[in-house]
Amino acid sequence: MAEIWHDEATGAWLAEMHSTAYAFGLADGGTTLRHLHWGGPLPRAALGGLQATAAGAMPRHERQLSQAPSERPDEYVPWGGLRFDEPSLKAEFGDGTRGVEWRVTEQRVLKRGPVTTLEVDLADTAYPLLVTLAYRVYDGFDVLDRWATLRHVGRAGDPPVTIRQGHSANWWLPPRAGWRLRYLHGGWGAENQLAQTPLTPGKVVLESRRGTTSHQLNPWFTLDPEGTATEEHGEVWSGALGWSGSWKLVFETTAGGHVHACGGVNDFDWSYRLDPGGELALPRFAGLYVAGGFGAASREWHAWQLAYVLGRGDDRDRLSARRVPPGFSTTPPPRITATPPAEVARRSAAASAAPPRVTSVQVPPAHAAGSMPPLRPVLYNSWEATSFNVNEAGQIRLAELAARLGIETFVMDDGWFGERHHDRAGLGDWTVNPQNFPRGLGPLIDRVNELGMRFGLWVEPEMVNPDSDLYRAHPDWVFHFDARTRTQQRNQLVLNLARPDVAEWMFTTLDRLLSENKIEFIKWDMNRSFSEPGWPARAGDNPERSWTDYVHNLYTVFDALRAAHPGVDFESCASGGGRVDLGILRRVDQVWPSDNTDAWDRVKIQEGFTQVYPPQAMMAWVTDSPNYLTKRELPLSFRFHVAMAGALGVGGDLHHWTDAELTEAAELIATYKEIRPVVQRGRLYRLASVLRGPFAASQYVAGDDVVVFAWWGPQPSGARPPRVRLAGLDPAARYRETGSGQEHWGAALLADGLPLPEETKYTFGSTLVRLVRA
Ligand code: GLA
Repeated sequence: MAEIWHDEATGAWLAEMHSTAYAFGLADGGTTLRHLHWGGPLPRAALGGLQATAAGAMPRHERQLSQAPSERPDEYVPWGGLRFDEPSLKAEFGDGTRGVEWRVTEQRVLKRGPVTTLEVDLADTAYPLLVTLAYRVYDGFDVLDRWATLRHVGRAGDPPVTIRQGHSANWWLPPRAGWRLRYLHGGWGAENQLAQTPLTPGKVVLESRRGTTSHQLNPWFTLDPEGTATEEHGEVWSGALGWSGSWKLVFETTAGGHVHACGGVNDFDWSYRLDPGGELALPRFAGLYVAGGFGAASREWHAWQLAYVLGRGDDRDRLSARRVPPGFSTTPPPRITATPPAEVARRSAAASAAPPRVTSVQVPPAHAAGSMPPLRPVLYNSWEATSFNVNEAGQIRLAELAARLGIETFVMDDGWFGERHHDRAGLGDWTVNPQNFPRGLGPLIDRVNELGMRFGLWVEPEMVNPDSDLYRAHPDWVFHFDARTRTQQRNQLVLNLARPDVAEWMFTTLDRLLSENKIEFIKWDMNRSFSEPGWPARAGDNPERSWTDYVHNLYTVFDALRAAHPGVDFESCASGGGRVDLGILRRVDQVWPSDNTDAWDRVKIQEGFTQVYPPQAMMAWVTDSPNYLTKRELPLSFRFHVAMAGALGVGGDLHHWTDAELTEAAELIATYKEIRPVVQRGRLYRLASVLRGPFAASQYVAGDDVVVFAWWGPQPSGARPPRVRLAGLDPAARYRETGSGQEHWGAALLADGLPLPEETKYTFGSTLVRLVRA
């Protein structure tokens, strides 16, 4: 059970999760909320004592300038009054007043099955700004999901309220002698590299200013006291932000010695004007505490995402009566029609099942709350095989080979549309290229279906090549400043999706593509960062809010497409892993972690990825050897064993695979289908880290089934044969290896582990061991 309990007597709230607790309470006569607790379970009877230390604190205006460490920090820090910690909220009012003074006015709790949500309203004492803090807990989980919603509650004609900083949450850590921060950084081809640093007085800022989540940093962290946690032991606090645009996380050791993490939308170059009735829902920021090390934190993140995040849409409900229907945000600028009205009408008629215009979207989750999402099919992707050289005959030949392997979804990547013969043209023109597909996509899709596979397609709808019909028709649709260069990256510009007309065009275009063709999978790519993020038509009219409007409209397009085409699966890709976060994961079924498909590099990328994101969402292809990027040669079985640790795909040029390779691949894919439920839904134990040397191993456990992968690079001469100690087993049970039939005591597997084949120790090698509890 998970509950949120309010103690009327003391004015404190206690979120009681599976095995942890979180608490905060009213203070300063209802003008402040103070943080009380985040960690292990807290008896209700203890709440009053904690709350007394907060409620009895000296009123803020009488306090000395330096906050004493014993004081309880602000639960959600507004800028205003004697506050010097990194704020979550900075607002400016119509008369030039900056800074917030507020009072708690209302609370609401809603229990919907296994999910409980608390909303607490804080109303500004002089201006029409209402801030609602939301807290959500889930039966059986230790994840606390938080967000804030900002509303202008004035009447028409009232001056606006401008938000200059709007974070989703402050996460306060308990007093400890010191903290270690771990996070993920990287770059193209090298995403999800784990980094760590001790927190010293001052701030550490992690952020993206690129308009996307970014390859460079990912909005996730762990904090452990004095660097004491290990993979399987120790206290770990962790947080993950659900936002696919520019974001910011600040880790601050305050002057008073408190440590907190706060973050959300990046305030860089951003402000958001709320007019009367206006509302800004800030991204969700989830946090969890575990006592069982980094592995336990990852397992909790994975299980929660499977049950409540992957492909769910944004299931936030406002508990108060007034609901603002989601639609393409922002006040429409002077309207520019994307397509002639007659053409729009014709397309809408063609797309009979789809809503003609998206103003309100109810997202039907693909699976019931708390239940597991469907297993990911084994996929083939054409990119590394055919690059931009795609045509009907060539793709059919690839599909026939893919079917022979047991592939379940065949995906045609870039190159099928417009004049897209290379990366210099065509983006934006989402109609099938008539030379390469004179009969449209129909015959290819029919053949793929006949071969027993679903058909998938690559798109990059947020981008345009200057050499495209779309750009020639709408040069003003891209982010730009009139007097500045329109800087290109990969020969492309970013469509200003904050514009409602662009959002509408995007939905209509993709909706038509999905309505006219039997497409069951979309790989949604996004291959550049924002630059010159201007919107000249909105000059002087808060164009800076386009950083957030872009992402809101992106989510709305996704949600609308999912609602109109519930049978279509989606993958998020951004030049590899540039858009992986809990926000996009709500809209897609899987993500592409990296364009680097070298299996040995991938071991490290996957180790970083699985710190927070689940193996089920981690698409992994087996590609050719030598690898196109690293030129490294690796055995086929090695490449498979790495890719089988996530959602398996194949991306090699099958024409060049020998018969023996095709046969071996078919066998490994058959094996994968057997272990797939364990890999995609099981509990993951990272047994050995590649960060410690050229050897890594992972184990997955679901019910009585256990799957172990080990991968190693060349070992130094004289190295002892590696053994891998298992985890998460019953010491008193016996486990049988499915291959050899050999049986082991759980206790022996936990203490001494499994021996690994020695013959390959001087080269790259891998093994897959399956065990069943006897
Ligand atoms: C990006 C993606 C690749 C591929 C190409 C196509 O680089 O990450 O997987 O789809 O675009 O242009």
